[in-house]
Amino acid sequence: MDLGEFRLHYDVGTIDTASMHDDPTEQWRLWFEAAVENDVFEPNAMVLATVDEGGWPHARNVLAKGVDERGFVFYTNYESSKAAELESAGKASLLFSWLTMHRQVRIVGTVTRVAVEESDAYFASRPRGSQLGAWASPQSDLIADPSVLEKAVLDVQARFGEGDITRPPFWGGYRVAPVMFEFWQGRPSRLHDRLRYVYRDSSWHIERIAP
Ligand SMILES: Cc1cc2nc3c(=O)[nH]c(=O)nc-3n(C[C@H](O)[C@H](O)[C@H](O)COP(=O)(O)O)c2cc1C
Repeated sequence: MDLGEFRLHYDVGTIDTASMHDDPTEQWRLWFEAAVENDVFEPNAMVLATVDEGGWPHARNVLAKGVDERGFVFYTNYESSKAAELESAGKASLLFSWLTMHRQVRIVGTVTRVAVEESDAYFASRPRGSQLGAWASPQSDLIADPSVLEKAVLDVQARFGEGDITRPPFWGGYRVAPVMFEFWQGRPSRLHDRLRYVYRDSSWHIERIAP
């Protein structure tokens, strides 16, 4: 299948170092708000890239559920493949693709689990079906067929009845604390704008890199 003719002309905006916020998290927030205003689909979806012990990279979407000066938080199963990769490497990359705005943001950072109270509070805010699903799914494990999950959901329902569903001990949040951000804005003739923030000598430095 030849995909050579699939190409877009990028021309919706330009960025320069002078117009960017000094703090990359604040700059990310400005772009996120613009993505929401522009009806970008699932604007908090981000590709999480990890590396396994054999050096193989793995990428998948997760949903950012909190962002502040400490970093980007998402929730998952602590016994999943991604969790094993996050815990052994202690590092990850995130990618926000706001393609209808001809934008992407790349992030590299160090990874830690969030406090149990933070995971508890977020778990308690989830819809009941999602809470049941977290208990029922042995994420990343082999299963014979979907009936395994249906049965597991029934078991969890029987266990909790009408009561509150507590957070599974094997489920919670990770925080990616950035050491690098790159903001990319598509430009005509593939001469795109790329502005990178690197954390050096206790502060953020912004620099332009070639497309
Ligand atoms: C838009 C989107 C959002 C997702 N959000 C999450 C999430 O927040 N947490 C999660 O564990 N999996 C999420 N997933 C599923 C993951 O992409 C992945 O299939 C799953 O976490 C298992 O990954 P692993 O086997 O590499 O650990 C999402 C998938 C999509 C397409």
